[in-house]
This record gives sequence, structure tokens and C-alpha cells, in this order.
Amino acid sequence: AKLKDSSSITEHLESVFGQAIASAFPEFRDTPVIIAPVNSTSAKFGDYQCNNAMGLSKKLKEKGISKAPRDIATELKGHCPPSPLIEKLEIAGAGFVNVFLSKDYAASALSNLLRNGVSPPEVNKRRVLVDFSSPNIAKQMHVGHLRSTIIGESLCRLLEFLQHDVIRINHLGDWGTQFGMLIAHLEDRFPNYLNESPPISDLQLFYKESKKRFDEDEEFKKRAYSRVVSLQKGVPNSIKAWELICNVSRKEFQTIYERLDISIKERGESFYQSRMLSVVEYLRGKGLLEADEGREIMWPDDTKTGIPLTIVKSDGGFTYDTSDMAAIRHRVEEELCDWIIYVVDSGQSTHFNTIFKAAERSAILNPLTHRVDHVQFGVVLGEDGKKFKTRSGDTVKLADLLDEGMKRSLLQLESRGRDKVLTPQELKDAQESLAYGCIKYSDLCHNRISDYIFSFDKMLEDRGNTAVYLLYTYTRICSIARNCGEDFSNLPEILKKTNIVLAHEKEWKLAKTLLKLHDILIKCSRELFLHFLCEFCFEVCTVFTEFYDSCYCIEKNKQGDIIAVNHSRILLCEATAAVLRQCFYILGLKPVSKM
Ligand code: ARG
Repeated sequence: AKLKDSSSITEHLESVFGQAIASAFPEFRDTPVIIAPVNSTSAKFGDYQCNNAMGLSKKLKEKGISKAPRDIATELKGHCPPSPLIEKLEIAGAGFVNVFLSKDYAASALSNLLRNGVSPPEVNKRRVLVDFSSPNIAKQMHVGHLRSTIIGESLCRLLEFLQHDVIRINHLGDWGTQFGMLIAHLEDRFPNYLNESPPISDLQLFYKESKKRFDEDEEFKKRAYSRVVSLQKGVPNSIKAWELICNVSRKEFQTIYERLDISIKERGESFYQSRMLSVVEYLRGKGLLEADEGREIMWPDDTKTGIPLTIVKSDGGFTYDTSDMAAIRHRVEEELCDWIIYVVDSGQSTHFNTIFKAAERSAILNPLTHRVDHVQFGVVLGEDGKKFKTRSGDTVKLADLLDEGMKRSLLQLESRGRDKVLTPQELKDAQESLAYGCIKYSDLCHNRISDYIFSFDKMLEDRGNTAVYLLYTYTRICSIARNCGEDFSNLPEILKKTNIVLAHEKEWKLAKTLLKLHDILIKCSRELFLHFLCEFCFEVCTVFTEFYDSCYCIEKNKQGDIIAVNHSRILLCEATAAVLRQCFYILGLKPVSKM
């Protein structure tokens, strides 16, 4: 079996055992191969196992052939093509084939990693559009949008690292009837808006004022409606007013994105105005729209169950449903995407399921060639387990939340006396790294589907699976090579003279842990869960600590002078740092060299 740097261990073993099955039992050549990692505490059973013998035995029985799983396992073992990755194979228990990884292979894979950097595992490349963040103009960007922003950004980084062609889209809520009243109110409050930018400092307040007038004042209401029409027709003054209003929100969103290091392209609902017209024509043409009390609706499938989409309202206007139908069509037919991911809270799962089915029904989407995912997530709760609010009961402003994180992380650093050792710049870098790191990480490290409790105290703990623990461990690892008294900056040079040795049990365990990276990345991208990657980082850090506690990297005499440096072990430290660095990048953590 050929082995590339870019294949994951599981995939490689799948191909090895797939070949074994095909040659030992040709009639079952299409059986999916089952490879499972073996719990690291039971090292005598090897590192991975193939569990196909039991199932094959059953299948043979159905054909009237009786063969014990253990005998099948033995045959599979005999038919495995040689692989550089496998040290030995052993039959165990009812019929498991245990795989022991080769140390030579591991040592050379780690040398390659140090020489060339962390390589991505090989996957089938797709053109994928990630729709995330997507707050609404004139409304508060709330913690739900924060979750979408954090999860979406990390998914993009993961998929980009896997060499997919990724389009990051901010499906801004910048269109709809509420703009009629906002424009009408703008005309009254800032009559000179065409010549100078209106100084709206609080757009939420502005929204409330205009809503009040809309509800109370008939003349205002009429004008608001006429402004919706002129906006949709593209009358220049209305477009100008709309742009001014959007700019106020846009600026607020942008500061949040900058602080959190988010990159995203704005393509709001307004972008689809003309495409909404054409998608309605398209659906009508296919006979998929039905009249319903003045509206035009569309059922997701022929059974006409569930909730239909409202495609055209009774006043002729369009809805959120219409814009998502237009958007999915644009993404497939114009952007030529074969994978679309929506990072939106679980509350919208019915909406997206209906959109996906309707897109399939109307032949916009072919499920055999296109993958669509609603990456849903639970709500953010306060420490009292109730909806996340400020003490006075208001919704939490994101900017305030980030400020609070900055304050808390400074306190955390001060409590460890770091303010006395770090320069002001180093302290500030550490503070930002901790503040934004812990907010992102505490979101990403839980299964996104469950609700999560937002607690600065918890996320700033320096033990357990937290950003603080990971970042501190990483900093400590980096300091080992830095303080060993020798120059480890030119790794390719050092690798010419030093071999990686995996003789000690803990060295071996660390090496095998690091080599799981590819499997983890593939699993994350398949299932679109990032907590697997967080758990992996945590495992790397704890296994590293075990290694460091029992393996000297640097030996010192009683005076504290360095008397010996173990080069191979320093290289293991550097490989650990490289793996963590790559994972941190995906998770949006910014490590600093001192903290
Ligand atoms: N603006 C919407 C909201 O705040 C989210 C949009 C999500 N994306 C989409 N294509 N519908 O709820």
C-alpha cells in the first residue's frame, strides 16, 4: 500500500484492509472497512484495530458458509499488503485484527512535518460557500450572531486548510419593509442627508423612534410604504438614504470583525433583489407556486406536509424565504458551488430544511452532486442558566462583552504576576490573546448543538480544556527550545544530524498522538464539528505534559548549568508546537511567545 504524507492513518488502514478484504473475499469487496483507534491505555492491543471479521462471518453464514471470525481475521491478516505504517498485526479476542504502528514510519512522518510544516490531509476538493455571521441592519448584533461568526470563521479556516475553494459570505439582513420607515424617518430628522452624512449615533434608538411614528401616524405610514416601493425600484434618493442607514450598522459590525480577526465578504439580502424576481418566475414556470389567501406559497415536497414557504406576500412583496431561494440558486448556478454551509442558530432549522427540500424539488439542487448543511447551534445562556442578559436585563452589546473579556484577562495575568515580568507590549499581546482566545474557544469546545453557558470565570480557568491552559502550555513548549542554549531555528539543518528517537514509552505516545491530526481534521470537516479539534488540542497538551514530566529534554547540574541537551526530544517539542500552532490557527487562537 502506497503511503503519502497527505493521507490520514485511518484512511491508509482503510485502504490496506480494503485490499485484504477484496483479495480474501472478492464477493465482499465493497464492504465498508471498519477501523477504530484503540484506547491508548491498552497499549498491548496496538494502536488501531480492524473490526470487519465479525460482520464478514455473518455474511458468509447467510450464504451457508460457516467460518469463525477469528479465522476470517487470520485470513485478512494474511492478505494485507505490506505497509510502511504497520509494525505488526495481531489477532485478538473474538476476531479483531490489531494494528501496531511502525516507529520508523512515525519518526519519519514527524521529521517531514518539521521539515515542510504541517501538511493538510488529502480530500476531494469542493467549491464551498459558507454563509455565516449575517446580522441585521439597525438591529443589535447579538450573541447568536457572535456564535455564528466564531463557528463560521473557524469552519472556513479548516476548509481552506484542507485546500477547498472557500467563499465566505455575510448574508446581511439589509433588505425588507422596515427600511421604508427608516428612510421616511431619516428624511424628517436629517433633511440635508443628501449632502452630509447624518450623525446617527444610536441606530437602535433611531429604529425605535421610526417604529413609534409608523404605529401612530397614518401619513408617516403611507410615506414609509411608498419608500419601500421606491427603494425596490432603485430611486436614487431612497437608495442613498438606505446606504447611509446601512453604513451606520456596517461600521459597528466591522469593529467587531476586526477585533476577532474575522474575514468575510458582505453580500446581503438586497443583493438578490433582481434574482428574487427571476426565481419567482422560475418557480411559477415550473408550476410549483400555489395561491393561498392572496399569497403564493411553495410546498417542500409533493406530500404537501410540513410548513410551506411564502414566496410572494399578498401585497406582492417578497420574504426571507424568497431571498433564500434566490440565494441558493445564485450559489449553485452562478457561483458554481457544490457545497453550501449555513451557520445559523437551531431556531431556523425548519426554515433551512424547507429551503433545502424546495431547492431539490425545483431542480435547483441535485443532492447527488451538491452538499448542503445547516450548521446549527444552541443558544447562549448566562451563568444562571437563563437567557444571556446584562444585570439590568438588557441584551448584551458585543463590544461591551469583548471589553469585559479584556478586563478579565488582564486581571488573570496580574493574578499570576505576569504584569511584573512582561514588557507593556508583551502584556497587551498576552491580554488580547487570552481575552479573544477564551471567548472563541469556550464557544468552539462544546458540541455546538447544545446550549452553552457563558462564564468568564470558567473560560479563564488555567486548568482543564480551556484556551488559557492550551495557550500557556504552548508558550511553555516554545520556551524549551528557546532556552536550551542551542539554536533550533533552522530545523531542516538540525534534522540532517539528528534522528527522532521514540524509545521511551511517553515519547512514543506523544508521537502517535500528534499523528492523529489528519484523522481529526477529516472528521471535523465531515461532520462540521470543531469540538473534536479542541479535544485533540487538549489531548496533545496533556500527553505532552506526561512526556515532559518523565523525559528530560535538558539536563542541568546542581548549579543550574545545562550539561546535556537531548536533541531528539527538543525536536518532539517543536513538532508538538507546530501541530498546536496549526490547530490554534483554525480555532482562531493567537499564541504569543510570552505570557
Ligand atoms: N439575518 C438572519 C438572522 O439574523 C440570518 C441569516 C442567515 N443566512 C441565511 N441565508 N438565511 O436571523
